Amino acid sequence: MAFLGFGKKTPDKTGEEKQPLVIDGRLRHIAFIMDGNGRWAKRRGMIRSLGHAEGMKAFERLMDHCSDLGIEHVTVYAFSTENWKRPKQEVDALMNLLSSYVEREIREFGKHRSAYHFIGDKAGLPASLRERAEVLERMSADQPETLNIALNYGSHAEIVHAANELLREGVSEITEKALEGKLYTAHSPAPDLLIRTGGEYRLSNYLLWQLAYTELYFTDILWPDLSNDELDDIIREFYGRHRTYGGVTGEK
Ligand code: FPP
Repeated sequence: MAFLGFGKKTPDKTGEEKQPLVIDGRLRHIAFIMDGNGRWAKRRGMIRSLGHAEGMKAFERLMDHCSDLGIEHVTVYAFSTENWKRPKQEVDALMNLLSSYVEREIREFGKHRSAYHFIGDKAGLPASLRERAEVLERMSADQPETLNIALNYGSHAEIVHAANELLREGVSEITEKALEGKLYTAHSPAPDLLIRTGGEYRLSNYLLWQLAYTELYFTDILWPDLSNDELDDIIREFYGRHRTYGGVTGEK
């Protein structure tokens, strides 16, 4: 019974024939923790911010690849509520990267198929980024795919926020379904697969409610180095798993 996948440090280049990837309803939603940008830069003698810039390139490439594969929903962890503790220079660089991404998506609207959702506490973001992110959300609302970008996001805060929303509505009892309906990701099904790059084996306050039955995959590959082929291999491994949702495997 495998709940966790651990990626190899180097991709398997044995040259064996690979089956073409066919995505079906078993894989509607992939969540990513894009870890390892800082180390990617450090190993090259660069400042951490340059690792994030490289991480942005990987993000855009992999999002295009997910779209080409037919993945309907993707969620990425771009900035946590704890990331404000990083040096100001790094926080500023990340905010600038995010702002330029949002501006580019607005300017080039139509190039991608995603409805953008910035999930997290938007009130804590710089006003200009918040306003432009909301413009992009409104512009893209009718697009067929979903890209959730977790920004100033923390899962505990999200769950408390959802519970408070229900209290404000005057409910007498909180049910799982009602709470789920108030999460920032209410428009997406729960992730089928979580991929964390960068070699850490933890969830870092990310989608704790939503990941209850998600298949987890951890790889040592640093985020900027995750190739489209490696993502395909992870997806192949996912399709080899048997999901039981707490039931029996059929082999017992
Ligand atoms: C964690 O790596 C990464 C982040 C805190 C930022 C991730 C952001 C991007 C990849 C940019 C993507 C942009 C959009 C619009 C979604 P780390 O800095 O903790 O790396 P380390 O563990 O090697 O130090």
